[in-house]
Amino acid sequence: MSIQYFEDRKLFILSCRSVSYAFYIDRNRRAVHLHFGGKVIGETGLVEQEIRKGHSSFSPWAPGEKPEDSVDALPLEFSGFNSGDFRIHSAAVLTENGSLITDALYVSHRIFQGKEPLPGLPAAFASRTGNVETLEVTMRDTACDVEFLLRYSVFEECDVIVRSAAVRNRTASPVVIRRLMSAQLDLPHTAFDFVQLSGSWSRERHAVRTILHPGIQTIRSVRGSSGHQNSPALALCAHDATEYSGDVYGALLAYSGNFRMEVECEQYGTSRLCLGINPETFSWTLAPGETFETPEAFLTFSAEGFSGMSRNFHDFLRNHLIRGGWAEKKRPLLVNSWEAAYFDFDSEKLLGIAKSAAALGIEMLVLDDGWFGVRNDDTTSLGDWFVNREKIGDLGELVRKINALGLKFGLWFEPEMISEKSELYRKHPDWVLHEPGRRRSIGREQMVLDLSRPEVVQYLFDTIAGVLRSANIEYVKWDMNRNLTEVYSAALPPERQGEVAHRYMLGVYRLHEMLLEAFPNLLIEGCSGGGGRFDAGMLGYVPQIWCSDDTDAMERIRIQLGTSLFYPVSAMGAHVSVCPNHITGRSTPFATRGNIALSGTFGYELDLTKLSPEDRLLVREQVADYHKYHDLIANGDLHRLSDAFSVNAFDAWMYVSKDRKEALITAVCRFAEPNAGVRFVRPRGLDPETVYEVDGMRISGATLMALGLRMDLPPGDGASRLCYLKAL
Ligand code: GLA
Repeated sequence: MSIQYFEDRKLFILSCRSVSYAFYIDRNRRAVHLHFGGKVIGETGLVEQEIRKGHSSFSPWAPGEKPEDSVDALPLEFSGFNSGDFRIHSAAVLTENGSLITDALYVSHRIFQGKEPLPGLPAAFASRTGNVETLEVTMRDTACDVEFLLRYSVFEECDVIVRSAAVRNRTASPVVIRRLMSAQLDLPHTAFDFVQLSGSWSRERHAVRTILHPGIQTIRSVRGSSGHQNSPALALCAHDATEYSGDVYGALLAYSGNFRMEVECEQYGTSRLCLGINPETFSWTLAPGETFETPEAFLTFSAEGFSGMSRNFHDFLRNHLIRGGWAEKKRPLLVNSWEAAYFDFDSEKLLGIAKSAAALGIEMLVLDDGWFGVRNDDTTSLGDWFVNREKIGDLGELVRKINALGLKFGLWFEPEMISEKSELYRKHPDWVLHEPGRRRSIGREQMVLDLSRPEVVQYLFDTIAGVLRSANIEYVKWDMNRNLTEVYSAALPPERQGEVAHRYMLGVYRLHEMLLEAFPNLLIEGCSGGGGRFDAGMLGYVPQIWCSDDTDAMERIRIQLGTSLFYPVSAMGAHVSVCPNHITGRSTPFATRGNIALSGTFGYELDLTKLSPEDRLLVREQVADYHKYHDLIANGDLHRLSDAFSVNAFDAWMYVSKDRKEALITAVCRFAEPNAGVRFVRPRGLDPETVYEVDGMRISGATLMALGLRMDLPPGDGASRLCYLKAL
């Protein structure tokens, strides 16, 4: 049993493999947080040592309660607004009389096996692996019949607690939700570093670590998508936490729109984390009888540094979020036409690339942007998902020819967008997010469709499904190349305009759901100008996301290592492209580009017909490596052997299979060092007792982890090697 309830103390203990979470319902019916961290045994010592300080004159208390009951100083599972808790809070609901006072108390709870899905939103699921139990606590506002549901699903074997919240309007009038966070977590001190994945287009998800300071530290988006700038992922760690030691709390939000994750270091020396839909761009009118659900928050704790947090999240996302078995399934090794041809292609050119691909053992051709409408540059045709026959003839025929070469076929779409120069815009100018009478901003020459409108979602489904049915298309790259502005829907009344940003996201999720229902075997890759929407929300629908438009291998080390803090390698789109790199102008050895792209979904993003004979040989080796190491990389444990937070002269990371029978080390030297000494890497995660064969030697796991493995690299900047360890 992973959820225990002790009636005498009204105490809940949620237990995972090595993590516990505890709170209780106090004498005033508040849900008081007691513990989240290492595993506790027994029910004593928690309530007895709750954080409840004595009287403090500026901390108010409710009538009938005692000064030490002030909600301003209690660690709480849920905080309302304008009723004594002045910290960042869970919820604020506007009621009919204009009051934004929210204050809710415990009413009841239920515990059940498994976990329910979340209609319309991405949601973790119980699977064959491991036990999952759920606790649902119902709270009610002290003045009206508005109920709050707090949900906790315990994914025991991954050390992950999934939280979400809901509001139910049981009053006779509409109420307006101004803020409803997915989770609130009070931690007992403030001695944390704040870890985030930040950056910009082409340098997404760099790991950044700063000291938590008094006040509120926030990452957020108001871009309509999670954005390149901050992924909805955050860790709080001990100041001395390292890759392998120290306490680390991890939090992910399964949401791809405007989000907010914030931590407040408050006056009495505790920290409060709140995460959820960004209230800056949100309000929601809830009619009597209706319920509103938040996205899910995934929380984990590791006392073994960042590596433990990453392993928990990787296992959890692979086993309980990514659907269709795709997390462990081998994805087709592909070549994508974008950097190979951009908009300049015809069926002959594509068939040429396909022939070269087939000869090299590549398994799929993905036709990127430029195949529809009259799109020969980025100024037209988004929304007109009709094949440009002048360019590629009959799509069905092209795909048959490609299939005949032994290749699968994939196609690029940008469903959420519309070009001003398009049939669709001529027909439906009001389908664009815009405020009538105000200018419509353009980004990359395009505007954003109003996916809060069901008819727009239906149109997109019908046209995309039509294309998918017209040919044997087994993969879709779903792109999204600008941020949302003038977020206003011509279809909603004035008082509901605060719902548009969230309704847009619900429309995106709905379209994904419809496509997956109609095409259950379809593999969809998420993309947003590279990794502009790389989050646990998208991973609820797509097993992989294009990591970055930046395919420069040296840049990718930082991007992929940062991403790996939270997200599994099997979710990271990574390809080999040409040099000098189209974005950085940097040149890196072909072998290294392959070694780094192997730490991802693997593929090529170049014109295979133009490869030199030497590079063709290397492609064959890389294809063989992909097949040899796929399972290990996609399903094994990742160990970062170098610092993910900085640009290093030398980087290494490794994968160890779950049974510890094999491992793979990737080592890269960014800058060659003249007259250098001998370098070792220290493997991790091996079985000490097992003898491994590596580099022609037979060495025990213990010796390898104690002494290290001598790592001689070829000369030159950007040199790298893969090093395979096999148990004897
Ligand atoms: C975005 C994607 C690229 C490519 C282009 C096509 O930038 O990230 O991979 O698909 O769009 O326009």
